[in-house]
Amino acid sequence: MARPSLSLLAAVFAVIGVIYQFTLKPKLVLYGQGRVIEPIGNTKCQKYPEVKACGKLVLHEPNGFVYMACSTPKHRRDWYPPANRINVTGKALSDYVAVFDPSTSKITKLSTPDFKYFRGLSLHGMDVVQSKERPSELLVYLINHRDPMKPLKVEEVGADSVVEVFRTSPGQTELKYLATFKDPSIATPHDVVGTGDDSSFYFTNDHGTVKAGNSRYLDLDFLLGKRWANVGYCHASKGCKTAIDGLLGASAITMDKEGKLYVGSSISGDVQVLERQSDNTLVMTDVVKLDRPVESLSLDKDGAIWAAALPNAKHLFSTHMTRPSTLSPSSAIRLSLNKGQSQFFGEKYAIEKVFEDDGEVAPGTTTVAYDSKRKKLYLHGISAPHLTVCDID
Ligand SMILES: *[C@@H]1O[C@H](CO)[C@@H](O)[C@H](O)[C@H]1NC(C)=O
Repeated sequence: MARPSLSLLAAVFAVIGVIYQFTLKPKLVLYGQGRVIEPIGNTKCQKYPEVKACGKLVLHEPNGFVYMACSTPKHRRDWYPPANRINVTGKALSDYVAVFDPSTSKITKLSTPDFKYFRGLSLHGMDVVQSKERPSELLVYLINHRDPMKPLKVEEVGADSVVEVFRTSPGQTELKYLATFKDPSIATPHDVVGTGDDSSFYFTNDHGTVKAGNSRYLDLDFLLGKRWANVGYCHASKGCKTAIDGLLGASAITMDKEGKLYVGSSISGDVQVLERQSDNTLVMTDVVKLDRPVESLSLDKDGAIWAAALPNAKHLFSTHMTRPSTLSPSSAIRLSLNKGQSQFFGEKYAIEKVFEDDGEVAPGTTTVAYDSKRKKLYLHGISAPHLTVCDID
């Protein structure tokens, strides 16, 4: 009796071993297991602790202003619906947008005097784009993770997330309220990109339409590679809709000068290249694979795409978010169109790690932007204690 059961046991372990080796292990490695940090680009940096927990930073190239959507690390610990942190009691009501001016190193918090809604601002993703109609103005798109109206319970229905639109001008200290976009297709929004026509934007839904429930906690997207993420599109007069569905993760989003969209996955590390159709839906035309999750993307003036890519996502979302004083490693990866020899061998994009740090200089980075004119790299993080600005040639 003993022999067959032993060999059965051995067979079971062998099968588990094979499953681990081929499915789970690559994911744990992607999420940071055993990754050795190779410091680069982190020697000429400044820290600015006046702004904390900024989920997104956006460079306004003409004068180098950097807009940041900020909170406090304590509020993020309790309320960050994308990572299932849904303690309404600890939710921020007074998150804010701040601006860093590189010529004076001064940080200004923008006020929102005509935004008087009791549900407040609980900020995350953001985009800042020049207005087409009024070129001296900027449109500011903000993901606002509101809690649901009573008696609805967040555990049952999830966050009541919307996209808020404000306008401002460079140098102004106020945001003027324009509109709130609320729609079933804005279900689990993560980041947003304005199209530049003043009336429309695209946004990522990191969990697709799955706002609440056990499947989110089981991390099915991580374990099974569930393709539930999508990208949505909203237009001021035509409404909102899903532009592409079935993505394996959709967190980061940016657009290049030709209007091509890049969507980064914090599940697979893929940067998915999407092309706009005449009806504003999207078609995937390319995938660039990175070795780590992508949390945020931005475009620099020279056309390169910058990814805030997580060397240790597991540590960031569990340890660092719970105890923000625990340093978490950071990296920034640049994707540029390959002009070298290897483009003829199918390598369309040159991938270069420009910044990596164990967290001492830039802790828990989830958003980066590069000012190619002033040669400055800006880094901030969802629970980070300060803004980091590095000189990078
Ligand atoms: C929820 O947040 C409040 C405010 O920070 C805190 O006092 C409370 O302990 C939190 N509850 C849980 C279950 O973490």
